[in-house]
Amino acid sequence: MFKEYLQTLQDQHLLRRLRTIASATGPTVTLDNHTVILLSSNNYLGLAAHPAVVEAAVAATRQYGAGSGASRLVCGSLTPHEALETALAQFKGTEAVLTFAAGYLANISVIPALIGKDGLILADRLCHASLIDGCRLSGATFRVYRHRDMNHLEQLLSRRPSTKPTLIVTDGIFSMDGDIAPMRDIALLAERYGAAVYVDDAHGTGILGKTGRGTLEHCEVESHVPYHMGTLSKALGSAGGYLAGSATFIAYLVNTCRAFTYTTAPPPASAAAATAALGVIRREPERRAQLWQNRERLAQGLSRLGFHLAPSESPILPIIVGDPDRAMNLAHTLLTLGVYAPAIRPPTVPPATSRIRLSITADHTSAHIDQALAALAQAGRELDMI
Ligand SMILES: Cc1ncc(COP(=O)(O)O)c(C=O)c1O
Repeated sequence: MFKEYLQTLQDQHLLRRLRTIASATGPTVTLDNHTVILLSSNNYLGLAAHPAVVEAAVAATRQYGAGSGASRLVCGSLTPHEALETALAQFKGTEAVLTFAAGYLANISVIPALIGKDGLILADRLCHASLIDGCRLSGATFRVYRHRDMNHLEQLLSRRPSTKPTLIVTDGIFSMDGDIAPMRDIALLAERYGAAVYVDDAHGTGILGKTGRGTLEHCEVESHVPYHMGTLSKALGSAGGYLAGSATFIAYLVNTCRAFTYTTAPPPASAAAATAALGVIRREPERRAQLWQNRERLAQGLSRLGFHLAPSESPILPIIVGDPDRAMNLAHTLLTLGVYAPAIRPPTVPPATSRIRLSITADHTSAHIDQALAALAQAGRELDMI
């Protein structure tokens, strides 16, 4: 049965395989004994291997050990966890923060803590899978609105019984498309119709907004959205998820979220690494500036080449290819030319929108970007895509 299932996936060009990177993640990595330019990581600010971040992880491991030993609520809540939550709340400008072992765990446990069977969830069609899973687990009635379509969202809001508890769910930056949710409009609609908003700012955290606080800062709606979710696993170069909000909200989550209660606390190293990353973000704003400069160089180069691009506004720059086998061919050709950017296929993205999801970081040099563009030009021509 396993074999047949895998064969069916193979026949549809949808089989997935692990590839092992034999180096730290960075602008270049070692893959199959070759150095290749990496254009698909979420390590946007290059902090995963930043010396201050690595050093903090090593120091925390020496002092607090490799594992936390228990869940946070039993005896696994260590000084590095508390220090991270304090630093993150300060960065976010909220009263409190609660961290989770993964962004995925935050989404699948916080959404069911916010709404139940009697409620209604209205989610953007392109929400991340972890949000969808959280919505399903909540047991609430679940409807999707067309991607970033505020008329559709308003239609759904206006048609529901006004007393029905309602949660609007969206990504801040959409993970596979790179565009940004219209948070101002969403917040206004939520206020008008008495709905709550749950935004997942996994990809906006650290890179969007004047100080890097994320999508809500970028859209100037922080005071209108009382809580939000994000991750430590992307621009912060570590691992974990978080919820930022009022002290009461956070205390409520501590007492309701099953994926907080029933899992071992994250390793001290990852908490300390994320705290150190927040320090780097504060001390080195030039990293964010460099990221956006690099993003412009890559985006302009891609438009010049004539690829079919998604309408991105972020360092995520997807080339939409369509069929999964064509996306795989493009990824394979790019790899032979020294660029690693795997194909993203259904069910991660909707049918017929298989793509190469390029993502750029602050640590890429102009030479890396130009070399990648030359590879993309050659691969695109060889495969009749441009
Ligand atoms: C939008 C979004 N939310 C949540 C997650 C899950 O976060 P984590 O990788 O920390 O589990 C991801 C990525 O993996 C994501 O892209």
